[in-house]
Amino acid sequence: MNSLYANPLYYEIAFSYRDIPWEVKVLQQVIQTYSQIPVTRVLEFGCGNSPHMQELLKLSYSYIGIDLSPEMLQYSQRKADKLGYQVELHKQNMVSFGLEQPVDFAYTMLGSLYVKNTEELISHFSAVSKALNPGGLYFLDWCVDFGWIADSDDYWTARRNGITIDVRHSSRLINCIEQTFQENIELVVDDHGILHRIKQTSTRRAIYPQEFLLISQHHGFEFIGWWNDWDLNSPLTGSEEIITRPISVLRRK
Ligand SMILES: C[S@@+](CC[C@H](N)C(=O)[O-])C[C@H]1O[C@@H](n2cnc3c(N)ncnc32)[C@H](O)[C@@H]1O
Repeated sequence: MNSLYANPLYYEIAFSYRDIPWEVKVLQQVIQTYSQIPVTRVLEFGCGNSPHMQELLKLSYSYIGIDLSPEMLQYSQRKADKLGYQVELHKQNMVSFGLEQPVDFAYTMLGSLYVKNTEELISHFSAVSKALNPGGLYFLDWCVDFGWIADSDDYWTARRNGITIDVRHSSRLINCIEQTFQENIELVVDDHGILHRIKQTSTRRAIYPQEFLLISQHHGFEFIGWWNDWDLNSPLTGSEEIITRPISVLRRK
């Protein structure tokens, strides 16, 4: 069976339910409201197919992406080449990375803060604090878990240009003390009549709000806010019945 992150096109179609231009407007609003520095260089962790790259380049930001998957990095590079932009794409681990030049804004989308344990979580924040200029923001989409880890299953179908993909996303608790769970993403792809089965399994550590605050503060970040469903008019209070795609914003002191 193929791995999902070695199949950028199928990944892109499977996760194409987002309104990317609108999300980039939210990023811009966050930058305008909370950044204490002018933003030129923007960094994405686990950039994958770099869904927000085109919109950010159109707004004159310089785009830097880091990812472990060579296929994803090549896919993003080809997208940037087609658009006629220069970008920086690095094969690096978000847990421990280094950039030659710091950035003014950093972000992680769609719960892609991939850490397996507490050491990796601490190491990530330590590396981000070195890579981000003081006054700059770190924006996280769906990376903080506002509910306790529970087994879950989600299904949807995505289509584009004659390709139909049935997606199953599931998580299973591994250890409630270590706060680990197994995330499974399974795709059944019908590509013009040819069927492919693709699977991605990752062991992940859940990140709860109070430890997110503690660890980030310890590494020189101040907490700016968190909001429900990408809506800056819906700050999270903890009493919400449904929390979907929460966003969190930190600022480097
Ligand atoms: C869910 S995809 C997100 C892609 C894209 N950012 C988006 O918004 O759709 C997660 C990406 O993170 C990458 N990834 C997983 N673990 C990583 C790590 N430790 N360091 C860097 N990238 C990693 C995967 O290769 C994959 O491309």
